[in-house]
Amino acid sequence: MRILGLESSCDDTAAAVLDDGAVRSSVVSSQADLHEDYGGVVPELASRNHQRYIVPVVEAALEEAEVSPSALDAVAVTYGPGLPGSLLVGLSFGKAFARGLDVPLLGVNHLEGHLYSADVEGPPVPRPYLCLVVSGGHTELVHVTENREHRVLGRTRDDAAGEAFDKTAQLFGLGYPGGPAIDRHAQAGDPAFHDFPRTRLDDYDFSFSGLKTSVLYYLRDRPDDERNRLLADHRADLCASVQAAVVDALVDATRRAAAETGAAHVAVVGGVAANSALRRQMKEAGTHDGFEVHVPPLAYCTDNAAMIANVGRMHLDTGRDSPPTLDVAPNLQL
Ligand code: KG4
Ligand code: ZN
Repeated sequence: MRILGLESSCDDTAAAVLDDGAVRSSVVSSQADLHEDYGGVVPELASRNHQRYIVPVVEAALEEAEVSPSALDAVAVTYGPGLPGSLLVGLSFGKAFARGLDVPLLGVNHLEGHLYSADVEGPPVPRPYLCLVVSGGHTELVHVTENREHRVLGRTRDDAAGEAFDKTAQLFGLGYPGGPAIDRHAQAGDPAFHDFPRTRLDDYDFSFSGLKTSVLYYLRDRPDDERNRLLADHRADLCASVQAAVVDALVDATRRAAAETGAAHVAVVGGVAANSALRRQMKEAGTHDGFEVHVPPLAYCTDNAAMIANVGRMHLDTGRDSPPTLDVAPNLQL
């Protein structure tokens, strides 16, 4: 069973081929450089570039997989959540491609893509498991059971974890996306340099807007020369301190949820799962509390189409293909 996966919900144009569950190719064209000058994703630019790259990216994925279009059995495509103009490019292409080949169209929820991304390579995560979905747009703690059923235990009430990294990185003058830069600088820093706030809510929800504001005030309340000196001399320490605040909040809620649900397995997925401190601290928590931590390879943490084809395969197995009238759903939830 050969499935072409397509992903264009934000600023990555991606295509992948899965053959009986094995990844034959996974091609991602990132627009990060393009949006860097603006400090974030510019929707109009993003959709225009998806249009420019969708055909070459699909061609590259088919070529790398050594699969001709006529050998495909289905087309899986993200239809939400995401930027409307970006989603439209992938979905329109996917619909036309599926129609032209006369194969099923499988509309996939991008968040489900992340949710099951730890299964893409290697043995599937044993069910039930707890999944922390942490990306640029989402932060959710989800209990996943058999048969693709899941229950959202908590989510962010304001900024996503990735946004917290991106926005503070911008305040530190580190460019976009900021998460990888913070992670890199933090390696040489002292996480106890400054005690930024960790908002702890009674349930499993998260809140990161207070952290962003506190970083803003921390820098704003100093004369220019002092601020510049602080950023020059203590950039690594500041990055490590912010990173610790985000990671502590994520690990704390996950531990409490794992204890309450009796989870023996915890998956950490999405772009922020690439964060080295989060991986380390979650593994330490697992060793201490008695759960096993599963993190996808880096290529399947950030946006990719292999995770979309993987969920498409689950839809196909249960005979849930989508109608040709499928529309984009920018606010789709889990
Ligand atoms: O899943 P993803 O590629 O796209 C969305 O669906 O949002 O996640 C992108 C997010 C960005 O906010 C980026 O800063 C963050 O993931 N990110 C990281 C790291 N690598 C990517 N955050 C912290 N540490 C990293 N190493
Ligand atoms: Zn994503």
